[in-house]
Amino acid sequence: MAESLKKDIDLSQYPHINKGLEGIVAFSTTKSFIDGQEGKLIYAGYTIDTLAENATFEEVCFLLWNDRLPNESELSELKTKLRKERSIPSAVINYLENTSKKAEPMAVLRTAVSMLSDFHEVDTENDKEFYLNKAISITAKIPTIIAAYDRARNNKKIVEPLSDHSTAFNFLYMLNGEEPGDQAEKTMDLCLILHAEHGMNASTFTNRAICSTQSDMYSSVTGAIGALKGPLHGGANQQVMNMLMDIDEQDADPVDYVKGRLKRKEKIMGFGHRVYKTMDPRARILRGMSEKLSRETGHETLYEWSEAILKTMKDEIGIDPNVDFFSATVYYSMGISPDLYTCIFAMSRVSGWTGHYIEQAENNRLVRPRALYTGEKDLDWVPVEER
Ligand code: CMC
Repeated sequence: MAESLKKDIDLSQYPHINKGLEGIVAFSTTKSFIDGQEGKLIYAGYTIDTLAENATFEEVCFLLWNDRLPNESELSELKTKLRKERSIPSAVINYLENTSKKAEPMAVLRTAVSMLSDFHEVDTENDKEFYLNKAISITAKIPTIIAAYDRARNNKKIVEPLSDHSTAFNFLYMLNGEEPGDQAEKTMDLCLILHAEHGMNASTFTNRAICSTQSDMYSSVTGAIGALKGPLHGGANQQVMNMLMDIDEQDADPVDYVKGRLKRKEKIMGFGHRVYKTMDPRARILRGMSEKLSRETGHETLYEWSEAILKTMKDEIGIDPNVDFFSATVYYSMGISPDLYTCIFAMSRVSGWTGHYIEQAENNRLVRPRALYTGEKDLDWVPVEER
C-alpha cells in the first residue's frame, strides 16, 4: 500500500472488515441454526438427527418453505405439485443433448436453470404463493436436468420423469433407466435431507444477495449454483473422490498421502469448516451410511482409507470432516459418477436457497456492503504513448 495513502485510512471507521466475512451476521433467518461448538444443526426447529430419522425430502422442502411440517393433505398436495413440475422445456432438452459432452455437469446445470426462466412467467407479483410455485417448479426440474444431461453425455436415451414416486426414486430412475430398490431410494432421500439447508453458506449468501436486488428466483438459484460449484464449497465432494482415486492410482498409503499433502500446505478436501469446531453432524450420519454401503458394495477399502485419513487429519492438524467427506463414498457406492456429486448437492440445497429467497423477499433490504479502498488516489494522467 502506498505510504501516502496509509495515513489517509481511518481504520476505526471500518471495525468490521473480516476476511471472508467471518463472524458477520448479515441476515436473520428461521431456516436453520448451527451450533458449531456442539456440532448441532437444526432446520426450522428440528435437529438434523430427528429429520434424518423421520422425514422425507419433500417434508423438508415444505418445512424450509413454510417453517412448519406439513399435515397429510398438505404433504400430498406438495408431492403432486412437485411431480407435475418435473418435465423440462424441449429447448432445455435440446441444449442438454447438444452441449459439449465433456462439460462440467455443474456448469451445465447452472446454464439449464438459467434457461428455465425463459419459459416461466415474468415476475409481476411478489406474494408468497407465487414464490412457492416457482420454488416447487425449480426444485422439481433440477433432478430432471441432471439426469438428462448425464444420459445425453453418455449417448443414452433421456428418460422421461415419472408421474409418481418420490424425488429420490424418480431421480435414480431417470439417471439409471431402471427403478431403484428401497435402500437406494432411502439413501438418496437421506442425502437430500442432509444437504438441504445450512445457514449463511456462500451459495445461500449469493442467493440472498441476488434476491435483495429484487431479481427473480431463477437468477438467484443460478448464482447460487455458481457459488456451490467451487471446491471450497459444494465442489469438495467430487474432490474427495478424486483424492481417493488418486491414492488408488498411485498405490499410495492414505496416511502418507495425506501427510505429504499437508506438508506441501495443500488442503484435504472434505475437512474443515468455518462454523463447526467439532465433527459436522451430517458427516457423523454419512459416516455410518458410508461404512454400511461400502461394505455391502465391496468398496470397503475406500471406507477404510477414509477412516485412516480422518484419523490422520485429527492427529496432524486437529480438523474434522465436513458433509462432503463421507458423502463422496456414499454416492460412489451407489454407482454415481463423481462429477455429479455436487449436482446432487444442488438438487437438495435448492430447497434451502428458495426458502431463503422467500424469507429475504418478505423482509428485503438491498445487500450493499462496503469495501475498504487500499489503492492509490490522485494519480496524474499519463498519455498512453508515455506509459
Ligand atoms: N486441509 C488442510 N488444512 C486445512 C483445511 C483442510 N481441509 N481446512 C482448513 N485448514 C487449515 C488452513 O490451511 C488454515 O491453516 P493456517 O491457519 O495454518 O493457514 C486453517 O486451517 C484455517 O483454514 P481456513 O481455510 O482459513 O478456514 P476457513 O474458515 O476460511 O475455511 C473451509 C473453511 C471449509 C473453506 C476450509 O476448511 C477448506 O478449504 N476445506 C476444504 C474444502 C472443503 O471441504 N469444503 C467444504 C466445506 S463444507 C460443505 C459446504 O458448506 O460446502
